[in-house]
Amino acid sequence: MAAGKGTRLKSKHPKVLQEVGSKPILAHVIATAQKVVPAQDIFVIIGHDAERVREAVAATGVNFVLQAEQRGTGHALMVARGALSAYDQIIVLSGDAPLIAAETIRKLSAFHTAQNAAMTLLSADLDHPFGYGRVVRQGARVQAIVEEKSATPQQKKIREINSGFYAFAGPALYEHIDRLSTANAHGEYYLTDMAGVLHRAGKKVVAIKTSDPGEVLGSNTRAEMMDLDARLRLAKCRELLEAGVTIFYPNTCVIDGDVEVGADTVIEPFVQLLGNTKIGADCRIRSYSVIGNSVLGDRVIVKPGTIMEDSRVGAGAVLGPYTHMRPGTEVGEGAHLGNFVETKKIKLGKRSKANHLSYLGDAEIGEGVNIGAGTITCNYDGMNKHKTIIEDGVFVGSDSTLVAPVKIGRGAYIAAASCITEDVPADALALARASPKTCRRTRWRLGVRDKA
Ligand code: UD1
Ligand code: CA
Repeated sequence: MAAGKGTRLKSKHPKVLQEVGSKPILAHVIATAQKVVPAQDIFVIIGHDAERVREAVAATGVNFVLQAEQRGTGHALMVARGALSAYDQIIVLSGDAPLIAAETIRKLSAFHTAQNAAMTLLSADLDHPFGYGRVVRQGARVQAIVEEKSATPQQKKIREINSGFYAFAGPALYEHIDRLSTANAHGEYYLTDMAGVLHRAGKKVVAIKTSDPGEVLGSNTRAEMMDLDARLRLAKCRELLEAGVTIFYPNTCVIDGDVEVGADTVIEPFVQLLGNTKIGADCRIRSYSVIGNSVLGDRVIVKPGTIMEDSRVGAGAVLGPYTHMRPGTEVGEGAHLGNFVETKKIKLGKRSKANHLSYLGDAEIGEGVNIGAGTITCNYDGMNKHKTIIEDGVFVGSDSTLVAPVKIGRGAYIAAASCITEDVPADALALARASPKTCRRTRWRLGVRDKA
């Protein structure tokens, strides 16, 4: 069920597309469902902002049912009758509860089958059950679920809550679903009322408790969402710690679910590793670095405050502090990029260095090259981007501007502060700057006095 608006989040985005653990909430639920049944047996009920929700998860191959008007969770299942009524067993998942484990869904299904029940709900004992539907039992049987707003003071004390995950016998559900009514606090068709409806019809309604109440938590409010996010992040950190990665103060780090990190790599506090980032073994990622969709070899050192996006880094490279690597940066083995160096779409060869204050864009830089402080590749003429080629062993003196398209031949030497507008042949010395003019000290003094 993913058709609701999520009013309590006060957002212009639909609730199920809000992100926790870097993925839309609904994407987590679908991924888990797919571990239990194939995509063709999954039906996502969409309604609020339906097209956006559909688009966001369509690649999974699941089916969609449109609940054009959202008149409650019971109504969602009424709308899905055509799609679902042929199934013997229908498992209902809440699109806003992303921590559910595949194993728990399997247990719910198996228990339901073993009990030969009409309806089985997954329940949990919560210390703070406020807001959840409460399970009203008569021994092993469930008599009813009462929503917070309709619960009596006595029922509000019940700590066993309805998780919003259910297994139904398909025929029993659709034989009785029309008995749901909207006579309740929200004027909606509550799916939870099916417990009472089926119980009164003499059908068997039972509940199975999860061993980990954490996995049924929903995300109705921003606070709940942030709690889910923190749980997912921490679980990822635990997985990495287990795999031999050291993470100092893991609760300060943001590490996405698909990130891979090799053993003996050390991650300092306040690091973000995002998207499909892969980091080798024996690396050190120092504080305040943000690395997205990048691949780092072994023994790479990333000093504080380095920002990296869609880049590749060879083994033993040293980056930062404060290097800004934009998409398409490829750093060779043992190469260095230092502070306040910005790169974009470049190849930096093995052991080459650009240690201070540079912009290197659209450039192919060979091996063993030294790029002096303040070097700029002028890659943009206002209309088009042009390429700079710097061959192996070149020395670029500080404060040089290389006006692309331009090629610096192997082993050439660019004198400091040169503005290079033509190709430089191999092994040449290029010096392109105004020659210094000095004045006699007395005249210089006079000049100062004149100005004053
Ligand atoms: C629901 C249960 C409550 C349970 C809680 C667990 C009902 C009436 N109450 O409350 O007993 O403790 O989940 O998290 O079911 N949805 C639709 N169509 C609709 C309305 C909702 O698809 O017309 C979807 C929502 O997008 C959401 C899910 O159903 O993913 C649950 O709806 P929500 O409004 O969050 O129900 P809760 O108030 O949390
Ligand atoms: Ca909810």
